[in-house]
Amino acid sequence: MIFYKENINLKSYNSFGLEVIAKSFFEFTEKEDLMEYLSKKALPDKVLILGGGSNLLFTSNFDGEILYPNIPGIGLVNEDRNFIYIEAGAGVKWDDLVNFAVRYELGGLENLSSIPGNVGASSVQNIGAYGKEAKDCIHLVKGVDIETGREIILSNEECCFGYRDSIFKNELKGKMVVTSVIYKLEKFPEFNLEYGALKNEVEKMGAVTLSNIRQAVIQIRDSKLPDPAKLGNAGSFFKNPVVSTEVAGKLQKQYERFPLYETSQPDQMKLAAGWLIDQCGWKGYREGDAGVHKDQALVLVNYGKATGSEILQLAEKIKKSVFEKFGVELEPEVNVV
Ligand code: EPU
Repeated sequence: MIFYKENINLKSYNSFGLEVIAKSFFEFTEKEDLMEYLSKKALPDKVLILGGGSNLLFTSNFDGEILYPNIPGIGLVNEDRNFIYIEAGAGVKWDDLVNFAVRYELGGLENLSSIPGNVGASSVQNIGAYGKEAKDCIHLVKGVDIETGREIILSNEECCFGYRDSIFKNELKGKMVVTSVIYKLEKFPEFNLEYGALKNEVEKMGAVTLSNIRQAVIQIRDSKLPDPAKLGNAGSFFKNPVVSTEVAGKLQKQYERFPLYETSQPDQMKLAAGWLIDQCGWKGYREGDAGVHKDQALVLVNYGKATGSEILQLAEKIKKSVFEKFGVELEPEVNVV
């Protein structure tokens, strides 16, 4: 199925609920539809690949073409002694895939329960939560080269995954459309409960099972993250900043109970952006319809009629105040368009 429209309102396609108009919009449900489309039409210079729209901030109307891969389907592709390989279409709702894996007792995705967005974006953004990232389970990413219309298949290593980062946000930005992702799921799950609050919540439920971990994650998220269907937001607005151990050590001496996390690099530590913003007094702040969530300072919200620029202006003020107080530079996790 394909769908093409000009001057489309994107309000229902972005979780901030922003009213912006895109010049043109092409939706497709099969990879071949896109390949055929690209073979007939030269795309404008500005192209945006839209997933669930849960990590996007539009600051103005979009004067280009939106490609919307609404490809469904979850299926088994392969199996070996320890793993089952599952392919999911880019348009599958992320949490439907997690639910599927947990239902079939396949491990690896359970800590990532209830994250908004689609399967395609899980690879672009390398989504993460509670000690796990999508990259830990991604085997292959399939897509189409926008210029040539040919299929591209990338291995996990070729995707250059980092913290909320991948090749799709860098070298391949606007060049490749992810059409499906193959996940490598564990037949004998190895549970990851290193995130303190998760361990406590699961222990309260009794047995450590995939299904209990999923329920615990959903409960924790529901308790502090606003539902975008009720209050426009895009999850964490900023990334947790990574600094040298030296800078982290100084801050830890200066501030009581300063949250710090290890990274894969021995000389770097991750700080909690939410804590830094909270300490600057922003939690619950509201300016017009743009605000900072009352329970989680890392989440910016749209109370209804805020524009993307108003949200961005608020983000700039937060960034400035965190820099003035802590000397730490915040970087958005949300993709600003
Ligand atoms: N904190 C505060 N005040 C706040 C928010 C947080 O003091 O307003 C403190 C917390 O008490 C805790 C620390 O900051 O000590 C970290 O907070 P939390 O555990 O809530 O996690 P986070 O670092 O704010 C990250 C991810 C989330 C993910 C959670 C759980 C980023 C940018 N965010 O948030 O991901 O769900 O950990 O793993 O890495 C997202 O990417 O959209 C997202 C929601």
